[in-house]
Amino acid sequence: MPARQVAHRHKLLFSVIGAVALVVIGAAAGAVILLSGAYSTAATKQHFAITYRILETGLRFSVARYADKIVVPDLERVADVNVGYACYRRYCVQCHGAPGVARDPLGRGQLPSPSSLSESAREWPAAHLFYVTQQGVRMSGMPAWEYRISTEGLWSTVAFLKAMPFMTVAEHRKLDAASSGADCPKPTTVKAYSRERAQIIFRQYACDNCHIIGGLVGPNTHVGPPLVNWHERKYIGGILPNTPENLVRWIVSPQSISPHTMMPDLDVIEPHAQHMARYLMTERE
Ligand code: HEC
Ligand code: HEC
Repeated sequence: MPARQVAHRHKLLFSVIGAVALVVIGAAAGAVILLSGAYSTAATKQHFAITYRILETGLRFSVARYADKIVVPDLERVADVNVGYACYRRYCVQCHGAPGVARDPLGRGQLPSPSSLSESAREWPAAHLFYVTQQGVRMSGMPAWEYRISTEGLWSTVAFLKAMPFMTVAEHRKLDAASSGADCPKPTTVKAYSRERAQIIFRQYACDNCHIIGGLVGPNTHVGPPLVNWHERKYIGGILPNTPENLVRWIVSPQSISPHTMMPDLDVIEPHAQHMARYLMTERE
């Protein structure tokens, strides 16, 4: 082999070793900082300016990419601002506030602080607002609403968001009064069953905060019994024969079966309970 080629190969080899060493040193330094407890998780400590800007930019790019596929319907036709405001009043104003309305203490003690939507709603396209409202923002305190608000309800919420920056306080009060009888519609259907979708649904009802659920990454919790190899179970809650239909009944309304049970009624809609029951009945460890 000519000398030049050998030298080139050595150079390549050393660069690879150098890159691997850097990654290993970086990971080790990260582990030391993490395990020493030096990294503060307090909600009173803001990120460094550069980290803040990077995360903010990352959110915008990620939302733009995922929201690209969303087809915006004719909002004039499908959206109802009264319904949108009913959703906003029930689920959003606590954190984000409204014209002349302060956010609750819940929305003040958070970091990142919930954005003032009068600004984002002006600047963000409707599809982006829809995507963020439907899917939430992980590790930020912005919840996902897909499993609590129907698709039409979400578009109505977006229609309200788009109108909000142009409202006076008086107009907002008028809308608040006019929509007092309106309800925020829950979803009535759910997309086809898949193992992944069922796992999202468990998380979206916080089931995994009390139960270890077979196949699901979550806290090591024992508030309720572990739901692992559930198909082997003969009774639910010690009183109801274990069948898929009875399992759905239990998940939708545990108190109607066992009035003193600690398991709360989580307002689960039946199509979601059916996905959860199917998962529990088929998941094997
Ligand atoms: C528990 C508090 C909380 C609730 C309730 C909440 N949000 Fe948020 N929301 C946040 C936080 C925190 C962010 C900021 C995320 C970030 O920028 O890192 C956010 C961001 C957003 C954004 C992105 C805009 C921006 O400038 O970052 C939109 C749009 C939004 N929320 C809409 C809604 C709607 C609509 C509802 C009600 C259906 C809602 N939010 C309910 C906490 C909340
Ligand atoms: C706040 C804690 C809590 C949450 C949240 C919770 N559960 Fe439970 N769950 C319990 C407790 C406690 C029991 C035991 C109740 C009993 O036997 O009366 C239980 C019992 C059950 C049982 C019967 C278990 C058995 O051994 O017979 C099933 C199935 C179940 N839960 C499913 C769910 C699902 C699905 C969700 C989410 C929609 C959920 N749970 C959310 C606390 C919780």
